[in-house]
Amino acid sequence: MATIGIIGWGVVGKATGKGFGKKHKIVWNNKNDKGSTPIEDLCGKSDFVFLCLPTPMRADHSGIDLSIMDKVIDKVAPLMASKNTPLIIKSTVIPGTTAKYAKKYPKVEFAMNPEFLTEVNAPWDFLHPDRVVIGALNEDVANRIARLHRDVMGYKFRIFTTDPTTAEMVKYMSNTYMATKVIFANEMAELAEKLGINYDDVADMVGADPRIGKSFLKVSPFGGFGLKCFPKDTVAILGLAKKLGTDLSVLQTVWNKNLKIRKVKDWEGIKGAVNNNL
Ligand SMILES: NC(=O)c1ccc[n+]([C@@H]2O[C@H](COP(=O)([O-])OP(=O)(O)OC[C@H]3O[C@@H](n4cnc5c(N)ncnc54)[C@H](O)[C@@H]3O)[C@@H](O)[C@H]2O)c1
Repeated sequence: MATIGIIGWGVVGKATGKGFGKKHKIVWNNKNDKGSTPIEDLCGKSDFVFLCLPTPMRADHSGIDLSIMDKVIDKVAPLMASKNTPLIIKSTVIPGTTAKYAKKYPKVEFAMNPEFLTEVNAPWDFLHPDRVVIGALNEDVANRIARLHRDVMGYKFRIFTTDPTTAEMVKYMSNTYMATKVIFANEMAELAEKLGINYDDVADMVGADPRIGKSFLKVSPFGGFGLKCFPKDTVAILGLAKKLGTDLSVLQTVWNKNLKIRKVKDWEGIKGAVNNNL
């Protein structure tokens, strides 16, 4: 039995704790939570440490705000230097983030393990992944994290081991592709309405094609996409692309269209989605 430390005891942290808790001992820390294990104790006794912290968008939509992650890393990394304990970022962070931390703290075994669960079924999704992606800087760390997953979740899914930046990119391409599909569906629904035909019937027949799939073809009464992750992850990757001088005009149009058609900007009221509401 391993001891697993989890910092950030929210939706993802609790699902991770409940899942790995089936076979392992869990210790967790959450800001301002009296039940927390102090960070020093947690880092001292854990065989793996997962960071499940908020990574909100900036309120001006210019990109991601990594200040919570930066502060926690600056506290945790010195406690884990030369300990051979993987420090695993599970939060969604823009490509290059884990590599940047690894450069700053070369004696820490950093890894990146994006989470793909949905908020409505978080504990179940955690235990039943379609795939697990592990971005590690060496094979030993990748193997240890893979074994941890196999022990608890079995063998029904593929584990991809790669570098941290690739792992980060997988998460953003997944979320922004689904967000793009939602906006495309909204446009097709608008056209169907003009034609006097039933969009849901069209979507059923289109989604029956396995190359397309039925997810994210439904159109919400609020229009576009909301909640926490699609908006903040779209803004984060657009911010990164701008910094790197990469033309993501399709995704920029998707975000602009979402701002235009979404009747409630619900993410503005969700804790951890925008950096003015933490
Ligand atoms: N919610 C989802 O469906 C989902 C799915 C996949 C990935 N993610 C990603 O996982 C990350 C966490 O998301 P979440 O939904 O679990 O967020 P959350 O807000 O539910 O949980 C984050 C927790 O971290 C705590 N926290 C904040 N600052 C802290 C600090 N300095 N030290 C310790 N704890 C601190 C908060 O109090 C909160 O309980 C985000 O990057 C998110 O994008 C979320």
